[in-house]
Amino acid sequence: MLRGLRGRLVGALLFTNAVTLAVAAVLLLSPLESRLLKDEVENLQQQLRANRTTLTQLDASDVRAGSRRLQRATKVLKLRLGAEIIIVTADNRILAGTDVDRVDRFPEAGQALRTRHTVRTVTGSGASAIARVATPVTIDDVRVAAVAVRHLNDAGEAVAVVRQAFLVAAAISLLIALLLGLLLASRLAQRLRALRDSALRVAELGPVVEMRADTTRDEVGDLTRALVTMQDRLREQEQARRSFVATASHELRTPLSSLRVMLDLLRDDLEGDVPDLTDAREQVARADQQAGRLARLASDLLDLSRLDAGLPVRRELVDLAELTRAVAAEFEVHTGETGQELIVDDHAPARAMGDPGAIAQIVRIMLDNATRHGPPGGRIVASVSINAGRPSVAVRDDGPGIPPAERAHIFERFERGASTNSAPGFGLGLAIGRELATRMHAALTLDDGPGTSFRLTLPAAPSGDPRH
Ligand SMILES: Nc1ncnc2c1ncn2[C@@H]1O[C@H](COP(=O)(O)OP(=O)(O)OP(=O)(O)O)[C@@H](O)[C@H]1O
Ligand SMILES: [Mg+2]
Repeated sequence: MLRGLRGRLVGALLFTNAVTLAVAAVLLLSPLESRLLKDEVENLQQQLRANRTTLTQLDASDVRAGSRRLQRATKVLKLRLGAEIIIVTADNRILAGTDVDRVDRFPEAGQALRTRHTVRTVTGSGASAIARVATPVTIDDVRVAAVAVRHLNDAGEAVAVVRQAFLVAAAISLLIALLLGLLLASRLAQRLRALRDSALRVAELGPVVEMRADTTRDEVGDLTRALVTMQDRLREQEQARRSFVATASHELRTPLSSLRVMLDLLRDDLEGDVPDLTDAREQVARADQQAGRLARLASDLLDLSRLDAGLPVRRELVDLAELTRAVAAEFEVHTGETGQELIVDDHAPARAMGDPGAIAQIVRIMLDNATRHGPPGGRIVASVSINAGRPSVAVRDDGPGIPPAERAHIFERFERGASTNSAPGFGLGLAIGRELATRMHAALTLDDGPGTSFRLTLPAAPSGDPRH
């Protein structure tokens, strides 16, 4: 039994076909019959008029019942026209005829004589259609009507042949529609079933399940390819999530285990007969450092999870120079310790659209990198400017710069530069910075040398803003 989409498609195809054929039959067969009948009657009329002279050359004395010349003339006409010929007077008497026995009355004869015009009628239909044409004829001043009666078999037969051919063609066409419909619908249903099974398998076993790509160039093929693409994305995301969790746990384990070692050593220092307070203080300081590292990692992971959750960022007017000065001030103590010189170049008034908290965090990430990865005693310049109409903040230090091979990777999560592996970082700063920037329709990029320079380019504030 045909169920579902297949049944409906085949049904619709057959119904459309049947309706089309029925309409075609109505529009074709009936007009064809009336057209053929009309043509035949017209033909008979023309023949009768053309051969009128056969009667008009007779004398007035021949216009009477039983006239042999009149009888002969009607026979000649019958032979020429292939129709029964009857001569009728104005008072509806039959003077002569080739087949008068079965013939009844001829009202069209009287009408023709009255109106002096040829009158034609068709009675019956199909194979039993009969045409009658009555035309007035004047024989030596005597007016009579010549009536031609012909069976219109030809028209009926022609229509019957066409009808027969039409029925055969309709049957063949319905059969082809049925077969074609079944073939197409079965193929479609089969492909959709395969798609449904794959989707259910993915739902059950996850995106690792292989989905077969449908290479056919149609909507179902497009849908399958879209699902395969979606599955690839899901697989990539799942892979990224797993490696993120694995790396995050690894990063957490390392400082936690060193913290435990330090606490063990601290206990040893304190539990001895003579507590080694000097070493204990050193262990506490180092443990404090590790705890700080852990706190930073926890805060970075929280930032990333917020970004992954797609929390909305604000979009408001930000004074970049003011914000950069405020963030730079947070680093004064640190640069004091490292002997670095931190200069804020904020001469250009630059107002941008973005989330002030997120912009501050990105500037903090850039300054943190410059202070930690830049050379001690070096110079760090945070400059605010407008480039090609877009406001930006750049942080440049006079370090050796980023090696070309690392330029693309350092923006990825947990990616640290090879030469800075010893520096205490997790490789999350730039990843967080770039994702935050993207969320604000901004860009965090690496400028060319000298030194190392990162730049945050933001959307400009609307020019109509009164505070601009
Ligand atoms: N100013 C810079 N000078 C030299 N190298 C830098 C500089 N800024 C970033 N890098 C390189 O880019 C890498 C990635 O930076 P990112 O800020 O993402 O991580 P991190 O600083 O190592 O760790 P985290 O910021 O998570 O504490 C760094 O490890 C370092 O190799
Ligand atoms: Mg960093």
